[in-house]
Amino acid sequence: IMGLTTQQLITWKQQGRPIVALTAWDFAFAQLLDAAGIDIILVGDSLAMVALGYETTLPLTLDAMSHHAAAVRRGVKRALVVCDLPFLSYQESISQAIHAAGRVLKETGVQAVKLEGGHPTAIETVARLSDIGIPVMGHVGLTPQSVHRLGYRQQGTTESEAERILSEAIALSEAGAFAVVLEHIPANLARIITAKLPIPTIGIGAGSDCDGQVLVTADLLGLSEKQPPFAKTYLNLRDIVTKAVSDFSQDVRDKKFPEN
Ligand code: KIV
Ligand code: NA
Repeated sequence: IMGLTTQQLITWKQQGRPIVALTAWDFAFAQLLDAAGIDIILVGDSLAMVALGYETTLPLTLDAMSHHAAAVRRGVKRALVVCDLPFLSYQESISQAIHAAGRVLKETGVQAVKLEGGHPTAIETVARLSDIGIPVMGHVGLTPQSVHRLGYRQQGTTESEAERILSEAIALSEAGAFAVVLEHIPANLARIITAKLPIPTIGIGAGSDCDGQVLVTADLLGLSEKQPPFAKTYLNLRDIVTKAVSDFSQDVRDKKFPEN
C-alpha cells in the first residue's frame, strides 16, 4: 500500500539522484506515468487549463480537484501523489486549509498537498499542515494562482525579488515543507536555493541545477494548444490523434470499417 515516501526524496537529494515529476489528471495517464517510474505524480491545478479548458487555474474548485485526484490515485502504485490545493481553497484561514487538505487526503488517498506562495500566511499554513502530519510541497517564483498580479513573466530577475524568493524558500523549508517547486526563475537563483535547502527543489523553467524537474504532461506530449517557453515537447500527440481520428472517419465514410 505504501509507495514512495517524502523521506525518500530527501535521501535522493543527499545522494544527488535527480527526482522526476510529471502532472496527471486522470486514471489512464497516471497508470502510464507510474509504470514508467516517475517519482512524483502531481495532480496540478494546471488541469483546469489542460483538461477542463479554463483560461487560468483560478476557476478550479476543490470538488473538481478531488474528483481528478481520486482518479489519478487509483492509477498509481509506486509514485508519491501530490495534489494542488485550488485557488481560494486554503488562503482564507488556517482552518480552511486544514479542511481542504484533510478532505483531499481522506477522500482521494493522495499522500501530500501543494500550495502556492511564500508570504507569512502561506508559511504559517505549511507549518500547521506539517504539524498535523500532512506533507506539504511549497511553490515559489511564478505562482499561476497570482496571474492577475504577476502575469506569466519570469520572477526573481531583480536582486530584491531574488532575495525575497530565496527567503521564502528557506522559510517554507523551516516550516516543514518536504519539497519546493521553483517555477520560472533564473537558473542561477535556483542553484543558490537548491544549495541552501535541506529539502529537494523541483524546477520548472528554473534551470538544470534543481534536485528534480517537473513538466505539465500535456506540454511534454504536445497536447496543449499553448505552451510556456520552458516546456519541452517530446511528442506531438495532437497531430497523432488528429491523424487517427481522420483515418477512422475516412474508413467509416468509405465503408472500410468495420471490415465485415
Ligand atoms: O499545476 C501544475 O501543473 C503545477 C506544476 C507546473 C508545478 O503546479
Ligand atoms: Na499548480
